[in-house]
Amino acid sequence: MQDFFNKIDKRRTFAIISHPDAGKTTLTEKLLLYGGAIHLAGSVKSRKSNKHAVSDWMEIEKQRGISVTSSVLQFDYDGYRVNILDTPGHQDFSEDTYRTLMAADSAVMLIDAAKGVEPQTKKLFWVCHKRKLPIFTFVNKLDRYGKTPIELMDELEQVLGIHAYPMNWPIGLDGHYLGVYDRINKQIELFENDNTHGSKILKSTTGSLEDPAIIAALGEDNYTNLCNDIELLDMAGDKFDMTKVNSGELTPMFFGSAMTNFGVRGFLEKFLELSPKPQARTLKNGDILAPENTEFSAFIFKIQANMNPAHRDRISFMRICSGIFDKGMSVYHVQSKKVIKLSQPQQFLAQERTIVEKAYPGDIIGVFDPGIFSIGDTICDENMKIQFEDFPVFPPEIFARVQPKDSMKRKQFEKGITQLAQEGAIQVFKEKGMGMESFVIGVVGVLQLEVLEYRLLNEYGAKLLMNQLGYTVARWIYTEDKKLIENIKGLDSGMLVYDEENRPVVLVNNEWSLNWILERNPGIKFVLVPAEATVI
Ligand code: G4P
Repeated sequence: MQDFFNKIDKRRTFAIISHPDAGKTTLTEKLLLYGGAIHLAGSVKSRKSNKHAVSDWMEIEKQRGISVTSSVLQFDYDGYRVNILDTPGHQDFSEDTYRTLMAADSAVMLIDAAKGVEPQTKKLFWVCHKRKLPIFTFVNKLDRYGKTPIELMDELEQVLGIHAYPMNWPIGLDGHYLGVYDRINKQIELFENDNTHGSKILKSTTGSLEDPAIIAALGEDNYTNLCNDIELLDMAGDKFDMTKVNSGELTPMFFGSAMTNFGVRGFLEKFLELSPKPQARTLKNGDILAPENTEFSAFIFKIQANMNPAHRDRISFMRICSGIFDKGMSVYHVQSKKVIKLSQPQQFLAQERTIVEKAYPGDIIGVFDPGIFSIGDTICDENMKIQFEDFPVFPPEIFARVQPKDSMKRKQFEKGITQLAQEGAIQVFKEKGMGMESFVIGVVGVLQLEVLEYRLLNEYGAKLLMNQLGYTVARWIYTEDKKLIENIKGLDSGMLVYDEENRPVVLVNNEWSLNWILERNPGIKFVLVPAEATVI
């Protein structure tokens, strides 16, 4: 039993959130390097010629050199079992990115020191903030000129409304920092200039503020500036308060450079020490389930079809919330009310997939799925029969009408669309009077439309005719009087569609149009949560 508790205490499951190009791939790779999971950075993402990250699975990802789907990487460090949830890094991110955050216990917010808080970081931050997820900030690219540490702290507060506590402080001049001062341990770490371009662990010397050798190495100006900065931070800055970190009100802030490895080890060690172990989860009935509960439970947060083009496979990823997963165990699938055996459970260790024998709360495993799972499903011990709370639905912002180019391929088209909707890759809407030969597709990022086109062709043999619609806002309708929906007025610049559960949805160009419609249709309300909408 003690062993089970220890395993939980030592697990860290988190996502890195950032804007494209901030250095997420590089940082992930460096964490693997320090964790000993790889021995030479650059082997994962060999520069220029072959720019693929470990998590690049799909052909389209390779072609574009981007990560379309979220994946999971696992490694051990100093007794910790680390699970990094990878989030798609392209600007056209998808619901997948958001959903991955549901499986995390904390987030690392990566910021480019020169660019500060960028749009995608902002979006992802808000999803984390809403869940009250602890957020740790890593300011990257300190080897280049950027904004000053104080400016960046202010920016976090102004743009995101979160206070920052610098855990370390860069020493030296912008673009030429020599090392960092660790504010908790009151230690200076000076990095050596090496010529490995960050492919190997960076050597450093550590000492106290009083250490004469360190003072000499810093030089008088740097030393005086550092002492002044520390005094200012201690006097005027926020106090370090773990309760505030845990409720997402205060972010521990680290400065470093993923490329040169500057500050990476210090960040990793402090992050592992301070970040939360697997957290309790809320059930649909409002109860809280602790990870220490010995009965097994998990939820599906991602489904990926055809990961291996050689044979059609569909893998469902689940996050374990309580109990122990044993290879070959039978579990209860709540949504289908069936006892099932999970076949070939896999874990994703650095660059390989391995069959998992046992897994614990916080771990992510992928299982081959014959098509029974949907995003958000609960899997648990037969005696439990619990259900985790529903995933939030992220309203789509981009819409397109799609139909098969060749009407002979209608069956494949329909099958592909249905399967991708089940995976959660797209949201599907129907127009009244249209059969199964045409759908309106809703997505969060435009790249999802490209993925849809590509996958329908490559996996189902159906070429698409796609016509992007100009709408950006979707609202589900609630009304006591269903007749109002058929006769809805003021839809001149919008359209009415129905989701898979036959709930009416209005698509319009902007929020202003929503008011226009509301004013003309007393008796209807718009809702953001589909479950609250009227079913026709
Ligand atoms: P992403 O996954 O967040 O999109 O970013 P990625 O790691 O791919 O990094 C984007 C670019 O930023 C890469 O340069 C990468 O080398 C660079 N980079 C990452 N960390 C640092 C850092 O600490 N300092 C500096 N100066 N650059 C950094 P690139 O030119 O686009 O690619 P490459 O030719 O280096 O592969």
